Amino acid sequence: MKEIKKVVIPVGGFGTRLLPITKSQPKEMLPIVDKPAVQYVVEEALNSGIKNVLLVTGRGKRAIEDYFDYAVELERELEEKGKTDLLELVRGTSEIARIFYVRQKLARGLGDAMYYANGFINDEYFGVLLPDDIIDAPIPCLKQMIEIHQKYKSNVIAVMKVPFSEVKAYGIIEGKKIGDGIYDIVDLVEKPEVEQAPSNLAIVGRYILNSTIFEAIEKTEPGKNGEIQLTDAIKKLLYKERFIAYEFNGVRYDVGEKSGLIKANIAFALKREDLREEIKKYLEDLFRRD
Ligand code: UTP
Repeated sequence: MKEIKKVVIPVGGFGTRLLPITKSQPKEMLPIVDKPAVQYVVEEALNSGIKNVLLVTGRGKRAIEDYFDYAVELERELEEKGKTDLLELVRGTSEIARIFYVRQKLARGLGDAMYYANGFINDEYFGVLLPDDIIDAPIPCLKQMIEIHQKYKSNVIAVMKVPFSEVKAYGIIEGKKIGDGIYDIVDLVEKPEVEQAPSNLAIVGRYILNSTIFEAIEKTEPGKNGEIQLTDAIKKLLYKERFIAYEFNGVRYDVGEKSGLIKANIAFALKREDLREEIKKYLEDLFRRD
């Protein structure tokens, strides 16, 4: 079985849950402390041993391309002033990753965005990371999934248990347990009512998919809201390919949504030596006043 060498990161969505900021600012560029969300997922790919990254962008997403490009004037200035630590921060990830871009013409859903990766992916398995989901984990989530993929030689989807009251916000899997936190997926239901939910195992934005997904997307009709859903395409493949659901180890933040973005900022700030004490004290004072 071929090694996984590429990941796709779709960043073409409107980000309506974060309006008004997303009117002119890509949500993937919103900061978690001092790095944009998209950098966290590019780093996750690098830390999982994958350098080739395709970003599926769209109109209004130029800031992402600029971010991973050289900032010529700024870098010259930092060099002249001998600020090598800052220079390293600015260059960091973009020097290591090989980043490719393709532009989704209309934001017609995640499945449609994924289809633009068709020419980048050959006959191989590849990773998909959604920058809406930032996962803080001792072993990068994608790396954990690659191990599962190597063991089962199959597609892998990251899942986590959510309270039943929240299943309506997620794609939910129906699975047959085959190991600790490992399930053979039997069916998927997009945003079910509690009564219809086959489990509380919710799909999180990390996938390892076979290139056969593109053919399945081609055959997928737009759903209710006119968007082509990736889960619908996966459903089409379920009868002929194995999909494993994997409960990863780590904490996930939904930064595509306001409260998740704030929580991620607090949690990551508290992990930083240079910020921890100040933020902790601030939060304690705030609660005392409450
Ligand atoms: P979401 O389902 O969160 O949609 O996309 P969205 O438009 O970005 O955000 P909301 O729901 O309006 O607030 C999940 C992932 O798929 C990408 C997004 O950028 C995000 O990473 N996406 C979504 C695309 O690349 N293109 C699309 O047409 C839709």
